[in-house]
Amino acid sequence: MSIEGRQLLLMLDEHVAVSGSVLAKRFGVTRAAIWKQIEILRSHGAPIGVLAGKGYVLLSAVELLDARLMAAALPVASAERIPDIDVCWQVDSTSSELARRSLVDSGKPTACFAEIQTYGRGRRGRTWHTTLGGGLAFSIAWTFERSMSTLAGLSLVIGIGVVRALRDLGYSDAGLKWPNDVQVQGRKLAGILVELLGDALGPCRAIVGVGMNLRLGKSADGLIDQAWIDLASIPGVSLPDRNKLAARLLFRLQEAVDQFRDTTFASFASEYAQYDVLGGRPVRVSTARGFQDGVATGVDASGALLVNTKNGEMVVDSGEVSVRMRSEADA
Ligand code: BTN
Repeated sequence: MSIEGRQLLLMLDEHVAVSGSVLAKRFGVTRAAIWKQIEILRSHGAPIGVLAGKGYVLLSAVELLDARLMAAALPVASAERIPDIDVCWQVDSTSSELARRSLVDSGKPTACFAEIQTYGRGRRGRTWHTTLGGGLAFSIAWTFERSMSTLAGLSLVIGIGVVRALRDLGYSDAGLKWPNDVQVQGRKLAGILVELLGDALGPCRAIVGVGMNLRLGKSADGLIDQAWIDLASIPGVSLPDRNKLAARLLFRLQEAVDQFRDTTFASFASEYAQYDVLGGRPVRVSTARGFQDGVATGVDASGALLVNTKNGEMVVDSGEVSVRMRSEADA
């Protein structure tokens, strides 16, 4: 019999060590097979400790994702608006998974969560790292009966949905760094990746990926190349249940997308301004041709970033540019 990582993780406890032989008996395998599977879980960041002579223990509680628990945590009236929810144990990337499925599926909104992503992708070719049970990694695919060019503000709209969900749960400092970072205390808490498939003139399929740090653990320091924060380190708010957080995100993202379908980004502009962490700050805009320094002054009606530079106002759309606060760029 082979052991599934998920089943093994479910047998572990935060307070009582479980011995390798008890686990081996439970799964009908050797202790070596248990050890091997524990090492695989640990390599994905699962917080499993080993107590000499006693066995395996969880260093912090792990709540695994469960589509039924998420559905149960949704506001009743919203349940039918929410995408179908699928929880995978392991995929390369939830966004790649939904892109593959989009080739054959019916175009219905679908959400895909994964406990493990082996090739989590960020913007601009970066890797997205998370730890097993210590983050949320999910993507949602929506079909839009309109051209890709009208979806320019979608990444900001999704950011607003994420911030609404976080603020609902008490994270009142959550803000947005254009175009796709959710920040708290100037550090990255979550990232958003929007990819468009289909016909440039419409209809098209938007695959929206969201990665969020819940309790990453020290191992993340060596893996993430920018200042990051996780929900567990934000004082004054207790870490929400993973499934409840996922449900809140699904609800707020669907709400934001519904609002965006009925209107344009302009209807979000004043709310965006409340969450904008760049507004009034010195920034550096880097493009393939070099960089330009200026002061961020907000976004326009399509969601493009406005930067006051010595050469006048620069309108930055989210193509191949990166924007860093000047203090970061100088570091
Ligand atoms: C960024 O900040 O650069 C965007 C990060 C997006 C990460 C999420 S995790 C779920 C989904 N699947 C991926 O491979 N990427 C997105």
